[in-house]
Amino acid sequence: MTEHFIFSGHDTEDLAAEYGTPLYVFSEDILLSKAASLKNAFESAGADYEINYAGKAFLNTAVCRILDREGLSLDTASGGELYTALAAGFDPARITLHGSNKSERELREALEAGIGRIVVDSEDELARIDALTREYGIRAEILFRINPGVDAHTNELINTGKTDTKFGLPLDCAARVILQTAQMPYVDTIGLHAHIGSQVTDEEAFVAEAEIMSGLYRELLERGLPLRELNLGGGFGIAYRTGDETFEPEIYIPKMVERIRGIFETEGLPMPRLMIEPGRFLSAEAGITLYTIGTVKEIEGVRTYVSVDGGMADNPRPALYGADYEALVCGRRLTPENAKKVRVSGKACETDTLIGEIELAAPRTGDILAVRHTGAYNYTMASNYNRLAKPAVVLLSGEKSGVIVERETYEDLTSRDRIPDWL
Ligand SMILES: Cc1ncc(COP(=O)(O)O)c(C=O)c1O
Repeated sequence: MTEHFIFSGHDTEDLAAEYGTPLYVFSEDILLSKAASLKNAFESAGADYEINYAGKAFLNTAVCRILDREGLSLDTASGGELYTALAAGFDPARITLHGSNKSERELREALEAGIGRIVVDSEDELARIDALTREYGIRAEILFRINPGVDAHTNELINTGKTDTKFGLPLDCAARVILQTAQMPYVDTIGLHAHIGSQVTDEEAFVAEAEIMSGLYRELLERGLPLRELNLGGGFGIAYRTGDETFEPEIYIPKMVERIRGIFETEGLPMPRLMIEPGRFLSAEAGITLYTIGTVKEIEGVRTYVSVDGGMADNPRPALYGADYEALVCGRRLTPENAKKVRVSGKACETDTLIGEIELAAPRTGDILAVRHTGAYNYTMASNYNRLAKPAVVLLSGEKSGVIVERETYEDLTSRDRIPDWL
């Protein structure tokens, strides 16, 4: 048996040797199996549904190609994400534009591309969409982002009724704002949206969210708006570390659909199409980051620091949120004899702790280290802090591997710098 860490059928040491480190590695097979788990669960629940992958988690043209080919829909949150999808040839009808502060330019780009839906976040934005659709003479199908007062960010379900957030319309003024669309000649309100947080591990918070929004949904339908969709947002949780709870679609989606069906039946309403916007659920486990171990520093009586050739510039989540990750030495199996407790640090001129404490198999300078489940919010959140060049992204599809984002070079780092002629 090989001692090497095999990821999605590929030897990770070979990938590091071929493509260099630090390296983002992304598996199409894992992405598709995660998508299939959601699709199968909705199918078995007999639901009318749509999966809108949240591009903010991991997006580039190759991934757009895969998603489009698989018939998934795409949630974009900026003109840049929308541009990426369109550049990849993604079907505009299955693209949604989100954002709490969309610029006029972004709204124009969305209308000109004829994208499927815009999720409206404020009364201000609605006025802009009304004016732009009149100017173009183009119809827009919109959903409204509602702040239902359900906060699933902590593991406890908090229903404050009033969450202090920049996102969405507060529930108590939503009807007044949304009903304005009845007078807008080119704007159709087709649904309601809410996103209640991340790392949700069962159906409870989604059902609470649907229940709260069902009253508003009924009021709007009764007032003649053509509602047909309920978008529950993203937030389906994954296990970053062994033993973490995870959202299991085959258990929780049928329960969620059944309970939401019950709510709508009780209200005497037709069951809407259920939309979800998973980001990390689809992409996090599909990605790993490969690093080369540089300095190993043993501080007597304190701890051992293992430093890698990347860090917070390619994965800011530990520094931003105290996020947890697991890692392993790719070429050496962990045994009780070689297990060494260490801290994994990045190379940035900050504390830059990637993993506070973990057992690694006798880590040495030159070893390849894999950090797991980095497929979401790593590449998309990466920066050039310390003028570190961003890593390449390699896609694994079955036995094939290929670069889908090239490694940045030193020249890339200065390519947009300008020195005014008076300097
Ligand atoms: C509106 C919206 N939808 C979907 C998502 C995706 O969340 P996750 O990656 O946790 O599924 C986010 C994440 O911030 C979001 O803000």
